[in-house]
Amino acid sequence: MDRRAFLQLSGISLASVALPQWSLAQVKTDIEYHYKLTAEPSSAELIPGFQTSVLTFNGNIPAPVIRARQGKPVRIEFTNKLNEPTTIHWHGLRIPIEMDGVPFLSQPPVMPGETFVYEFTPPDAGTFWYHPHMNSTVQLGKGLVGAFVVDEAEPVDFDIDEVLILKHWHLDKKGEWKALTRPRYAARMGTPGEWGTANGIHDPQFSYPAGSRVRLRIANVDNTMTYNLRMKGTDAQVIAIDGNPVSSPYPLDQHKIGPGMRLDIGLIMPDEGQHVALEYLLGKFGFPVAGFTATAQTGDIHSELPSLPINPVPVPDLDTAETINFVFEWEGAISPTDEAGNTHPVFWLINRRAWEGMSKDNIPEPVADLTLGHSYIFELRNNTQYHHPIHLHGHTFLVLEMDGKPVTPFHTDTVLLGKNGRAKAAFVADNPGSWMYHCHVIEHMKTGLMGYVRVS
Ligand code: C2O
Ligand code: CU
Ligand code: CU
Repeated sequence: MDRRAFLQLSGISLASVALPQWSLAQVKTDIEYHYKLTAEPSSAELIPGFQTSVLTFNGNIPAPVIRARQGKPVRIEFTNKLNEPTTIHWHGLRIPIEMDGVPFLSQPPVMPGETFVYEFTPPDAGTFWYHPHMNSTVQLGKGLVGAFVVDEAEPVDFDIDEVLILKHWHLDKKGEWKALTRPRYAARMGTPGEWGTANGIHDPQFSYPAGSRVRLRIANVDNTMTYNLRMKGTDAQVIAIDGNPVSSPYPLDQHKIGPGMRLDIGLIMPDEGQHVALEYLLGKFGFPVAGFTATAQTGDIHSELPSLPINPVPVPDLDTAETINFVFEWEGAISPTDEAGNTHPVFWLINRRAWEGMSKDNIPEPVADLTLGHSYIFELRNNTQYHHPIHLHGHTFLVLEMDGKPVTPFHTDTVLLGKNGRAKAAFVADNPGSWMYHCHVIEHMKTGLMGYVRVS
């Protein structure tokens, strides 16, 4: 069976089975969630009829979905089969710093041929993802992006549980690579790819039984794009943002996810033969992400979605919380040149500082020094006209305000600041270590919009 057929069937055949979808070699040992993962060059048919050389996990696009359970240990034996160093970061998981997968701040780079064992116990359930934290424009841009699903400690009763990882590839019509980054775009919204896919396929089509309860776990693993998502053909509910269940689900109208962000939506399949489409909007126009057709009813016709338990994220003490301001700005196109003659353009600043070209000898002071156990409110201010999804490692924010207006507080690891946008996000600094704090538009991160906070 080819990958397309397999994906079309996956919704039915793998419904509510806690097994990795897509090819991941699960190893039988003393711990239940034990995986072997490689990063390796391979080729894939992204544009139908053409092969593209890509970078993959376990040889495959899409990468295997790593499936874990809340509160249960996971072990991932990672082997670097690339010809350059790398590390793997588990985006959104609140785990110890040694496992965070950031070169120099949390571990030495994993050199070609080396194996590093990542082992941790996810405290939160939800939709997360994994990716390298080195040479990210290329390593992520060429395919090293995968979903990491943590099932709830107590199983939740959806009939269908589907992962959709969204990515635009920088390819021409024949599957040849175009530039992953262009300075004039890096200094603006970032360089977009041309070929839109979900799970490596343009507009994949799924079939699910009429009346079944569907959970779609959507992850934006793109380097650049913000997807403004909407659902056509049925009412869908927003059930989790960035992996974290919302306190009360609400109807999905339009919802923007920037690079690195996720959205879980719940829906009940309509009557047999009816079609539901997930789209993203650019201006007024809708572009396809994936489609879902209702097939004959196989179980009950449901009218309600199961509810998700809130994650055990520590509750910030807003009375004692210290407020720290962060301003994100643009700095003209200054291009310092190093001794080797390479230019490192710097376009973006956090509180008037840029950090580009992370290396062993280029670790600046943290942008904030936080006291372990204290609560903080980060006041974020985007003084630019471009979107910035601001991501903090090792902690989960509770967003209190967006653009000066109170919101129903929600948990997230990445806050999307729109044009001149603002946000107030609180959290407890309960995880000791040096934690990356950066824009997830990869070219923004690479050209300055990156820092770290130290919790001690
Ligand atoms: Cu997706 Cu620094 O992370
Ligand atoms: Cu992260
Ligand atoms: Cu940015």
